[in-house]
Amino acid sequence: MTAEFIADWRTFSTPHAIERAERETDGVALIWSDGRRTRHHRFWLRDNCPCAKCYLALTREQVFEIVDAPQDLDVADAQAKDGGLDVVWSDGHRSRYEAGWLRAHAGDEASRRERGRAREKSVVWGGDHHVQAFACAELMADDAALLAWLSQLRSTGLTLVTVVPVEHEALLQPIGRISHLRETNFGRVFDVKSKPQADSAAYTSVNLPPHTDLPTRELQPGVQFLHCLVNDATGGESVFVDGFAIGEAIRREAPEAFGVLATAPMAFWNRDSRTDYRWSAPILALDAEGEIEEVRFANFLRGPIDAPEDEMGEIYAALRLFQAMTRDARFTIERRMKPGDMWAFDNRRVLHARREFDPESGARHLQGAYVDRDEINSRWRVLARERGAS
Ligand code: OGA
Ligand code: ZN
Ligand code: ZN
Repeated sequence: MTAEFIADWRTFSTPHAIERAERETDGVALIWSDGRRTRHHRFWLRDNCPCAKCYLALTREQVFEIVDAPQDLDVADAQAKDGGLDVVWSDGHRSRYEAGWLRAHAGDEASRRERGRAREKSVVWGGDHHVQAFACAELMADDAALLAWLSQLRSTGLTLVTVVPVEHEALLQPIGRISHLRETNFGRVFDVKSKPQADSAAYTSVNLPPHTDLPTRELQPGVQFLHCLVNDATGGESVFVDGFAIGEAIRREAPEAFGVLATAPMAFWNRDSRTDYRWSAPILALDAEGEIEEVRFANFLRGPIDAPEDEMGEIYAALRLFQAMTRDARFTIERRMKPGDMWAFDNRRVLHARREFDPESGARHLQGAYVDRDEINSRWRVLARERGAS
């Protein structure tokens, strides 16, 4: 691309050529060499003009505001030329679009379906799941290993990192390969051990049933890292459940309960003498397409359900079913951590649990930290982009 046109940070290519551009009432239709016909609204094309007047070259961000285009803006001329589309506008502005970019952003059904298929899907798992392990030293030295780790975290929501140095805050080494932390009131790095003045059930030795951390916040931390320094106590095994798998099973097997879990707000609280965090939201959050995008649940942080009296029966039926599923061997896996192991899991998807342990039988010390999903996704995209994969 010449300096006049501002590129995206990604590159777009297509094996298909634009054969012809046809003017339409409200824009331009393109006829491609494979027969596809894509239609582009005049405001959409004008909005996306990548010229140096419309885009800031330095940041590759748009400066043109579509409201500044005249209401009757029209395409005066549109030509397929040199692997792209040249448009002359009724107000004299000129735009050029590369074929690869147009094809990658076209709004016709086939193109949108292709984009949907290319988007990575979550791979849901059950009780027979084999958790993929990544050696810390490789993640530190090799971007390809780092990309593989983050890809696995994005698709299954659960990974194990092995041979992390058994030292305080050593979990920050592999995390530093991703991004910065999501700090909370429990600290940048939190120590999970039985404490005399515990401000959370996590910091005692009790059984912690399957939960996401901090459902008490508007935005739950995206990814949780738990690094084992000492695990000499009897008990304290780690349990994981794929919340997406449970949600999908409930959708299939008990559609009414699914509807309740996706709509009835649950109240969650973290309170101590200095802080008072609260948030209410349904256990399952759905995206615009109805796919589950988030699971939110911690029994030990729940407040009383605030709902109309007549709805309590169905809400409790759904809650009890959800809780039963989080205990079901069909969905749960159980592992014991050894020093140097570090779990990394999607805290807005995978519920984790800890069996009760006996603090008299030996020491147990984990360190944890959080990173938001945005950071994982951004790092993954840049690594993929550098390899021409996205
Ligand atoms: C927590 C937690 C797990 C463990 O601290 O939130 O889930 O194994 N800990 O102690
Ligand atoms: Zn322009
Ligand atoms: Zn937890």
